[in-house]
Amino acid sequence: EYIEWDPETATKGGYEHFMYKEINEQPGALRRTTQGRLDTRTGGAKLDEFPPGTFADVQQVHLIAMGTSHHAGMYAASLLNARGIPAYAFMSGEYSVVKPPVTPSTLVVAVSQSGETADTLDAVRRARSAGARTLAVTNVVGSSITRECDDELLLRAGPEIGVAATKTFSSQVTALALLAERITEDYTGMKSTDSRELMNALARLPGDVQEILDTSTAREVAIEYEGSDAYFFIGRGPAHPVALEGALKFKEISYEHAEGFAASELKHGPLALVTPITPVFAIFTGHEDEATLSNVKEVQARGAPVIAVTSDESSEIAEFADHVLSIPETHPEIAGILANVQLQLVAYHAANLLERPIDKPRNLAKCVTVE
Ligand code: G6P
Repeated sequence: EYIEWDPETATKGGYEHFMYKEINEQPGALRRTTQGRLDTRTGGAKLDEFPPGTFADVQQVHLIAMGTSHHAGMYAASLLNARGIPAYAFMSGEYSVVKPPVTPSTLVVAVSQSGETADTLDAVRRARSAGARTLAVTNVVGSSITRECDDELLLRAGPEIGVAATKTFSSQVTALALLAERITEDYTGMKSTDSRELMNALARLPGDVQEILDTSTAREVAIEYEGSDAYFFIGRGPAHPVALEGALKFKEISYEHAEGFAASELKHGPLALVTPITPVFAIFTGHEDEATLSNVKEVQARGAPVIAVTSDESSEIAEFADHVLSIPETHPEIAGILANVQLQLVAYHAANLLERPIDKPRNLAKCVTVE
């Protein structure tokens, strides 16, 4: 008896799929993303690339990206808005069509794991020619986007092979949270009031993610709801992009119908689709959780099973939910990163039960270099 290794399985490090390996690599990736960048003592982000004052002229922020990176962009827009900074997230494919006005005081943050997505590069060029300042948030050193943009902030997440982005989403949101802190400080002239708490929560993030990886019951959830008609995901504030990302991951690799909604949108259409065979994943991150709980009650009244992603296991939320995917208690602004890890695991296990080709889903590419 001997074990045969080909180069691919060797780099999978014993995992069956790159995606699962990359999900499990998140604590290390996040440690690298935050390494040397957190001022846990007095609060604030320490970004060598962007010393204090770098963004003193910025009046508004546009976040442009596609796919998973767009969800990270939406997440960042919600963090910036919460700190009083006008910020808007656009799909880069739409940005060049809609042509939102930009001025020299617009900071355009292009988020792209690969740094090669054609629509995003195109949007960057448009922003530059309109006089905006451009900043790339990317995982790939020397990628096209770093050459097209004025500045860059690297994720340091390490290579991602699975077509479905996982660890890079967590690192993107983390890097963008740091950038948001720096922009806030320059915009308002002071650190945000809870900056120290946020920096300390970011320091704990790798350990919190590890705790989820060690204890998640996502596989049980995937088994229980295998064969459902559709899978819905709802959340408010920063949990809205997490709902979209949870659904994207699920559909990309399982080929099952999955949709994410803002929880507030539910009554305006999606509720018509809710039945006893459409499980609803409800994401709670401390953003009007009570309103999301009433959405949960609405879908349960239609017989839909509810899976709550929450840190608050003793609350009414847990009482109403059919399942709880638990996340460690953390700063509300980054709780969505933890919730997303649970949803990555659900998507992975669901696709694995269906024996899908997880690392290379049909019709999809890791990097879309054509428009
Ligand atoms: C493709 C990939 C996605 C990715 C998106 C944007 O659709 O399959 O995983 O999120 O492109 O890629 P980027 O490299 O710009 O982040």
